[in-house]
Amino acid sequence: LEKFYSKGYYFLFTTSIFESKYKASDGILRNTAFNGNYVVNLGEGKASHPQMELEDSKKELSYVVDLFPTSKNAPGYLKVIFPSKTKWLWRSVMPLIFLSLLLTGIILGCFYYVVTVVFKQKKLSEIKNDFVNNMTHEFKTPIATINLASDSILSDKVISEPSRIQRFIGIIKEENKRMLSQVEKVLQMALLDKQDFQLNLKSVDIHEIILKAVENIDLQVSQRNGSIIQELKAKKSILYADQTHLTNIIYNLLDNANKYSSESPNIRICTRDVQGGIEVSVQDNGIGMSKENQKMVFEKFYRVPTGNIHNVKGFGLGLSYVKAMAEAHKGSIKLESEPNKGSTFTLFLPN
Ligand SMILES: Nc1ncnc2c1ncn2[C@@H]1O[C@H](COP(=O)(O)OP(=O)(O)OP(=O)(O)O)[C@@H](O)[C@H]1O
Ligand SMILES: [Mg+2]
Repeated sequence: LEKFYSKGYYFLFTTSIFESKYKASDGILRNTAFNGNYVVNLGEGKASHPQMELEDSKKELSYVVDLFPTSKNAPGYLKVIFPSKTKWLWRSVMPLIFLSLLLTGIILGCFYYVVTVVFKQKKLSEIKNDFVNNMTHEFKTPIATINLASDSILSDKVISEPSRIQRFIGIIKEENKRMLSQVEKVLQMALLDKQDFQLNLKSVDIHEIILKAVENIDLQVSQRNGSIIQELKAKKSILYADQTHLTNIIYNLLDNANKYSSESPNIRICTRDVQGGIEVSVQDNGIGMSKENQKMVFEKFYRVPTGNIHNVKGFGLGLSYVKAMAEAHKGSIKLESEPNKGSTFTLFLPN
């Protein structure tokens, strides 16, 4: 640049303001440009004697530097003035601040996500362990019984007596059925999880379904000197629903009412017409449960903790199935319960 300057040519190269070559025929280097953010001003003379004096208020917003300080004959200066320095500075750092805040946010978000996933996984693995233990327990008894029964059939004494063989085969069949129903429960839950089920909706009579479910469980209840009272008062008992799932819902509620009563269970099942549908309530005089547990029982795999004693078997799947199915039918389920007094499950189904 200095070489050109001594020949009387002045060149100014900037990147964004002007890509200009400026020839000063009078030997004076002068150029001013404004790009909206700042003014660039090239002037004659030394920086300490600028030709163009600035107002005091603008002084602190301007920067001056000597051009070619080594050249004696015609030095010039370059002045950059920021009329709106603060705004300009902010505007230039804003994207950076925004970006770093965004990145920090993303990093924090990821961290939070990872931590919650880890905790969830930990809880899930505990639940899974419990489930596997439970299932092994549930299968151990029927497998052992089947084993015993088949051993007995194979013994010389029994094999010659068809009536005894029949009895043992009956036992094997019964136990097999039990295992099948357990497996079905688990498979059904997997289907529910994937939202992969289809309701086979038909007109069904809820009273018929209740009668059938009561019939199925009656033997178990009467074996424990219990009773089931039916008060089927609803007049509009025809629903548009899936018969199998509805039977399972009622059966699950009755099964729980029976299982979670320490003495002889007195179960009451009632229906009544309500606005928009029908209400089925299953009431028992069983062990009941606390408020905290009431909130959790509809969750998959949740079972009310009973310490080390697990005299009542189950997977903790029944009620979560009931809830999911009630909701699939656009209905709902609620629960009232008091420890040691009993529980009432109220199912609403639209008709
Ligand atoms: N009528 C009831 N009275 C008291 N506690 C109940 C009653 N019904 C359910 N519970 C509690 O809620 C828990 C969850 O019930 P749920 O039916 O989902 O599972 P489960 O009966 O343990 O197993 P299963 O999958 O075989 O039904 C039970 O373990 C029990 O502690
Ligand atoms: Mg149950």
